[in-house]
Amino acid sequence: MNNFWFSVPTDIFFGKDQVTVLGKNLKKAGAEKVLLAYGHGSIKKNGVYNDIVSELEKVSIPFVELSGIDPNPRISTVREGAEICRKEGVDYIIAAGAGSVIDCCKAIAAARYYSGDPWDFFTRKATIKKALPICTVLTLAATGSEMNGGTVISNPETEEKLATGSMKMKPKFSVLDPCYTFSVPKDQTAAGIADIMSHIFEQYFSYPESAVQDFMSEAILKTIIKYGPTAIEKPDDYEARAQIMWAGTIALNGLLGAGKDGDWATHLIEHELSAKYDITHGTGLAILTPHWMRKVLDKDNVEKFSTYGRNVWGIEGKDPFKVAADSISATSRFFSSLGIPSKLSELGISDDKFEEMAESALKYNSIGRFKCLSKSDIVEIYRNSL
Ligand code: NZQ
Ligand code: ZN
Repeated sequence: MNNFWFSVPTDIFFGKDQVTVLGKNLKKAGAEKVLLAYGHGSIKKNGVYNDIVSELEKVSIPFVELSGIDPNPRISTVREGAEICRKEGVDYIIAAGAGSVIDCCKAIAAARYYSGDPWDFFTRKATIKKALPICTVLTLAATGSEMNGGTVISNPETEEKLATGSMKMKPKFSVLDPCYTFSVPKDQTAAGIADIMSHIFEQYFSYPESAVQDFMSEAILKTIIKYGPTAIEKPDDYEARAQIMWAGTIALNGLLGAGKDGDWATHLIEHELSAKYDITHGTGLAILTPHWMRKVLDKDNVEKFSTYGRNVWGIEGKDPFKVAADSISATSRFFSSLGIPSKLSELGISDDKFEEMAESALKYNSIGRFKCLSKSDIVEIYRNSL
């Protein structure tokens, strides 16, 4: 296991009606004016907005709003949010929504104290030195953004979608009420499940192997495989939603990847798709993942893939290559069983931009630590996913 520093200063309030901690916590933190930020209105339909406003009213904390944060949140919204925070004297941000809202709020929190253009944080021209405190009220289980310091922002002008991270953007606390996810549509629930599984894969298929992290990963994958279909068939099944929600948070709060060199190839390849075609992140991952697995599987890592097959899917057999191949098919079938498209062409994507996307993916990073991928490898994964 590599050396690591693990620190997550995010308090989690998990369960029914936990939103009632909101006002008290903000008061305790000395908040005097908050920004209430959300997406395109789902929180107004499912009651989350009213719950938050009523908590703020109880403690008499005034707030201003930023609404309309897009899925694949835009840098222009980050600029707008930072300006509101400066002008209105906001001292705390409530991110009420899913990964896109939370990511946008993190970037706004950092941009508030930066005099240049916040896109600089994503192109590595500037580092984050200071950020407003944020808290989250999570409404969709997927990204883990509610308990990590990462943010992913799109820039439609440059057709880029880039990530950055900082301890300073880790939420101070997050409210995780599984009931708030009952209204998530089937396709977004499925995409969220694929995203959670992908986060685990990115850390599980990586070196050095480490029993604690890898067995935990297998346990969480089995939990998702057990409860995911129920969350889709019965959207208001509390236990299924609760299991998936907590799985999503743990999958990307640093625990499973501590002491390991995460791979993250599939994510970086997918971000190109979201950047160019504005597709749902988890849907892109579900399509790419089995093709990434097939591309990287070789004699050096076949044991890892066959362990995955045996421990997660219960696949038996003596030939490790056969078990590995069957485990990849099982992964692919599971995503399809959730109703996720299995081909990029189903999303209206053709091979026009594959070369360009592969180049762009490699612009700031090398891709893949489990297995390093070249430009032609990436193009091949896109083509096989078509
Ligand atoms: O806009 P609203 O009205 O909020 O509707 C959203 C949106 O249309 C809807 N939704 C959310 N909660 C709902 C709901 N609809 C009904 N009921 C609810 N309770 O779902 C749609 C998708 O929302 P979005 O925030 O985009 O979903 P997700 O949580 O999957 O976030 C995806 C974004 O996070 C980034 C992705 O790249 C993508 O931009 N990621 C962030 C990471 C991080 N910060 O650690 C890691 C991830 O790998 C990922 O890259
Ligand atoms: Zn993801």
